[in-house]
Amino acid sequence: MAFVERVFSGVQPTGNLHLGNYLGAIVNFVKMQETHNCIYCVVDMHALTQPVEVWGGPSELARNTREVTAAFIAAGIDPKKHIVFNQSQVSGHAELAWIFNCVARVGWLNRMTQFKEKAGKDRENASVGLYDYPVLMAADILLYRATHVPVGDDQKQHLELSRDIAQKFNNDFGDSIRGHGYNDGMYFPLPEPFITGPATRVMSLRDGTKKMSKSDASDYSRINLTDDADTIAQKIRKAKTDPEPLPSEEKGLEPRPEADNLVGIYAALSERPKAEVLREFGGGQFSSFKNALVELCVTKLSPIAAEMKRLVADPGHVDAILIDGADRARTIAAETMKATQDIVGFVRKR
Ligand code: TYM
Repeated sequence: MAFVERVFSGVQPTGNLHLGNYLGAIVNFVKMQETHNCIYCVVDMHALTQPVEVWGGPSELARNTREVTAAFIAAGIDPKKHIVFNQSQVSGHAELAWIFNCVARVGWLNRMTQFKEKAGKDRENASVGLYDYPVLMAADILLYRATHVPVGDDQKQHLELSRDIAQKFNNDFGDSIRGHGYNDGMYFPLPEPFITGPATRVMSLRDGTKKMSKSDASDYSRINLTDDADTIAQKIRKAKTDPEPLPSEEKGLEPRPEADNLVGIYAALSERPKAEVLREFGGGQFSSFKNALVELCVTKLSPIAAEMKRLVADPGHVDAILIDGADRARTIAAETMKATQDIVGFVRKR
């Protein structure tokens, strides 16, 4: 069956939205609005998988949920044409996750590198939710039978798991799926990751071999979407580099992770290929390149920060957007849940 193309993606409300989230994911969310029906979700249920100190407790969770929503809108997502909502308002996410828990295999989850990284050495003490995180993520996507998922490079393995779950569900319930009128036996699409652009993996400003992350102890490792111009300038000027001038060709960036990262950020923000950026700055010193990068970052990010500030000052307005989005998401989710319940054999009111 040809599935109707639909985009779904999510961002956790765990604080400190940064340039990596913006360039790796949100910029593509904005672009895909032109060609697809899109659903963008603030995944508050996923935030709970980490220890409470990480997500900050109930009032922080609510504040951060509104802040991510504000970032979506400030970046250019249109919540009227598309759907913006928070995950916990649509119960289908948890319901479908349960069914998928019974489809996914323990061996599959044991291979997830993000669980290993986040659980660290004290794996016994990690929440069951953290272990199950990728199954809920598959439910998020497939509840809307989404076909395209824009994400950063770090989510690739989770997307592969979503495809495995969809495939196994279709196989396990193939006869029932056909019996319910889906003649090719495919109820769930196999969602395609959409990982694209020169900044699919933005690295820490302090260490070019580490991903830029919300949880890094040093605020100097990342540029937050809410940073003001002076803070952005300070962070970029202090960013780690090496003593060589910038290379003139991309090949010259390969052994130089910090240089590669800064050039990638410049390329992504200016929407130009890295090779072109190097044609302009190659052979020059980092100090002048950094000045240009500060200017570009401030020009691109300041209007977003200002709009976010304006929006979070009016939580009633943000909540109304989330409630309206959830109402529309629920309508689509209800269709999927009914069909899924029928396929599985759950008796329900008709
Ligand atoms: P989260 O909140 O950790 O990250 C949100 C998005 O930002 C991307 N990202 C990066 N991209 C480039 N460079 C970086 N340094 C960087 N850091 C983060 C992430 O890849 C992500 O696209 N599991 C998801 C949330 C989620 C989801 C979903 C996504 C839940 N359900 C369903 C897609 C579909 C996550 O880690 O979000």
